[in-house]
Amino acid sequence: MEYCSNIMALFVGGSPAGASTTLRMSAMSALAAALVVTAAVCLLSRMIWMRIISPQAVRDGVSGRIAKQLPPGSMGWPYLGETFQLYSNNPSCFFEERQSKYGAIFKTRILGCPCIMVSSPEAARFVLITKAHLFKPTFPKSKERMLGPQAIFFQQGEYHAKLRRLVLRAFMPDAIRAKIPAIEEIALRHLSSWEGRFINAYLEMKTYAMNVALLSIFGKEEQSYVEELKQCYYTLEKGYNSMPFNFPGTLFHKAMKARRQLGLIVARIMSRRRERGAHHHHHHSDDNDLLASFMGEEALTDEQIADNIIGVIFAARDTTASVLTWILKYLAENPSILQAVTEEQEELIRRRGETMGALNWSDTRSMPITCRVIQETLRVASILTFTFREAVQSVEYEGFLIPKGWKVLPLFRIIHHSPENFPDPEKFDPSRFEVSPRPNTYLPFGNGTHACPGNELAKLEMLVLLHHLTTKYRWSLSGSGSGIQFRPFALPLNGLPIKIDRSQNVQQLKI
Ligand code: HEM
Repeated sequence: MEYCSNIMALFVGGSPAGASTTLRMSAMSALAAALVVTAAVCLLSRMIWMRIISPQAVRDGVSGRIAKQLPPGSMGWPYLGETFQLYSNNPSCFFEERQSKYGAIFKTRILGCPCIMVSSPEAARFVLITKAHLFKPTFPKSKERMLGPQAIFFQQGEYHAKLRRLVLRAFMPDAIRAKIPAIEEIALRHLSSWEGRFINAYLEMKTYAMNVALLSIFGKEEQSYVEELKQCYYTLEKGYNSMPFNFPGTLFHKAMKARRQLGLIVARIMSRRRERGAHHHHHHSDDNDLLASFMGEEALTDEQIADNIIGVIFAARDTTASVLTWILKYLAENPSILQAVTEEQEELIRRRGETMGALNWSDTRSMPITCRVIQETLRVASILTFTFREAVQSVEYEGFLIPKGWKVLPLFRIIHHSPENFPDPEKFDPSRFEVSPRPNTYLPFGNGTHACPGNELAKLEMLVLLHHLTTKYRWSLSGSGSGIQFRPFALPLNGLPIKIDRSQNVQQLKI
């Protein structure tokens, strides 16, 4: 059920990153009933579909030739397609079974959407890079409304390119290096609050990632608004996981209200900045946070800015928190790797001659073992199991037709777990990254026009936290340690309950 409700959210507009509750059973039954009724109606439409749009009759939009055939696979029941097969199990099993039966490109139907799933590096490159303009990002309308329809994820073309320039300006190494002391302060504050406690690793990492995201968006000065903003965001998150019924009393309705409130808070922060700019005669671009970048010369409207600020919080928080949670799990389960990471980090402290803070950019560039642990965690955990696109016109790939309007899903997890790309793929072995992976076999941050612009910041905040965690603390898993759930990002079961204690080693560093 956990798999089901959260992966389903991706199709019908439920939970974004990290919404943690699952759909209620009753909601599921109601949905199932509705789907069965719809199925009957759709039987007819399927017949029409089969007759009118025979695969052989569709022209390939790129070359004008007749594309041969749809990829192999089963479209399942009318409307329902293979929805229940996908949702009643770990989605990886669904993908793996079909991949071994049909190959690296196959068709299916999920909740009324005809889909083509691709799991070869070449096909991922085709969809995300070489023919990216033919595959637009696609999200349920309710998700767009809640995040903000002008947010970067939903865009293509010129407006998207402009947003990317502005986002990258704030998250490039040059912009984030100055933030290391502030990130470190946040990391140390969180770590000391965990000391001697049983914590839910995922929930705590969410707070850490949220604080770093807010710092990189608003800088340090806007902290007075941040508490209020966080509260609204949490309400938004709760409603995001609900069915999109927008009337008073529903979680969705409350979330939409919180969304409007978030827009107002961002507007207040902007007007304060404008006032401050007028008084101090200094330009916004003197600041190197995301808001300054958005308010710079290529000015966006206030609404566009709010949509994108909320969008970036959404993209930054639960992704990074999931990865950090997996890192804690894999390190706890692999003591020799934890030992190697700890030694690498202790060595840095010895070289620097002090324990508390003051990491600099070049320190973070000399942590090769820790970096490989992050890389390998991103591969094994593959927190984004897949991404979505929609074909804007009919396209031919390797003789197969991808019809206009169909969803196309590059399956990152399958690519990362293929023995052809990564021998002994289930093994957690960071040393495999001593050699760079082949192109398009490693896509934890996606690739092409929509590739993650926050990846450097994500890596930086993970390195800073791991530096202090491994050199000053020890942790042990307090649950069974096994199992996976999707919220919708892959996550250790129950968010990984752990116990954290101060390490005895700190004294032995002799500094
Ligand atoms: C380890 C943590 C993270 C992972 C694994 C991750 C992964 C991804 C992936 C795979 C995509 C591309 C999705 C697609 O092509 O459909 C993406 C897009 C994006 N990410 Fe991240 N991300 C992480 C952290 C962050 C952070 C910290 C930020 C911001 C500070 C961020 C901001 C974004 C934005 C704005 C996009 C949309 C880009 C566009 O549409 O052009 N991400 N992320």
